Formats: sequence, structure tokens, C-alpha cells
Amino acid sequence: MSDKLNIALPKGRLGEKVYAMFEKAGFPCDEIKENSRKLIFENEELGVRYFWVKPSDVAIYVERGAADMGVAGKDILLEYEPGTYELLDLGMGRCRMAVAAKASFRDDPRRTLRVATKFSNIARQHYLSKGRDIDIIHLNGSIELAPILGLSDVIVDIVETGTTLRENNLTVFETIVPISARLIANKASYKFKQTRIDAITRSLRAQLEEGK
Ligand code: PRP
Repeated sequence: MSDKLNIALPKGRLGEKVYAMFEKAGFPCDEIKENSRKLIFENEELGVRYFWVKPSDVAIYVERGAADMGVAGKDILLEYEPGTYELLDLGMGRCRMAVAAKASFRDDPRRTLRVATKFSNIARQHYLSKGRDIDIIHLNGSIELAPILGLSDVIVDIVETGTTLRENNLTVFETIVPISARLIANKASYKFKQTRIDAITRSLRAQLEEGK
């Protein structure tokens, strides 16, 4: 294992915010702020390397050790259950995982409930815990269409502002779990690079406390 610290950042505004915190923690990499299509940035002096990753892929990079640390949404961690350590709740990217349907929906427990979702594992576990028999319809996006077109009875999806549901005449029936961004680490990396990973985690935690 190389001594370099590899950090997977979620591409986008959240990732930029998180990078600023890493910078403040003593791991700057100036080049990253230049607007370019480059995906990898390294500060050789400090032995740190950042890369921009599709947010839903961060956990895969960290689980497999291509990254030592990263920032992933709790939704992804619950859905894919990667074998990574969750070090810190960053309190950013807050939203919730919810069950939504047309306002007129009434659950008939005698019938199998048809659930459309991108989060099949979360949905399955949620209804298993209630002993409710369901049929999962796995979709990759625009989940809100499913109940409108009669493809499903309900959806399990992320609700942030609620705008998407409102504009499609859907209503939240149940909140499954609150979601936010988490700092995660590869298990082996945590063992071998613990000093730096702990220092970053402590600094990020302190920065979050300061910002409260
Ligand atoms: C998510 C989710 C909803 C929307 C909710 O989609 O699937 O469609 O955000 O946000 P709101 O409550 O603020 O309207 P996302 O934008 O992540 O893209 P997706 O279509 O790839 O799921």
C-alpha cells in the first residue's frame, strides 16, 4: 500500500465544500480549484491525491481501496452496505428517504404493494421490518412517474425540498430515514494511515462545531 493519501470527492457543490474543509485541515491542492475537466489532483509535497468521482460511486472506490477516504451519502451507504468505516456525519446534503404516493392512495394490506425505487435494498428492508409483502420495481430515475402511470402503488425515493413530489401531485406518506453526507474510510487504509485519517476527521469535526 502506497503512503499517499487518496481521497475521493463527490463531483459537484458538496464535493467543493468538502474539499475546502480538507484544505483547512492542512491538505491543500491548489490546482483543484482551477476550472478544468481533470479528474485527479495531487499535492506531491504533502503526499495527498484527490479525485472527482460520481457521488454514487464514491463508496465503491473507498470499499475497494482505490481511495483511502471519501464522502458518500447515507442513502448510498444504506443501499449498498459497503464494508467501509463511517467516520463522521458532515451534516451536509441533508434530505430524507421517504415513501410517497398519490394523495388518494390507501394501502390495502390484502394485496402485494408495488414499490418503484432506485433504492431496492432500503425499500426491501423497510417493508420487511413491517412484515409487508411487496413487489419491487427497480428504476434508474424519474421514479415519480411510476405511481402516476400506474406502474407502482408507491415510490421509495429521496425527498429534499419536496418540489419534485409537489409538481407531480405526489405526497409523502412515511419518512424512512434522514440522510446526510458521511466521511468514510477504507478499513485497511484506516489501519495503516490512521494518524492522518484521524487528524483529518478531528479537524473536520472541529470545523463543523465552529460553523454551528
Ligand atoms: C432526487 C430524487 C427526486 C429529487 C428530490 O433526484 O430522486 O427526484 O431529487 O428532490 P426535491 O425534493 O428537492 O425535489 P436527483 O436529482 O438526485 O436525480 P435522479 O433523477 O438521478 O434521481
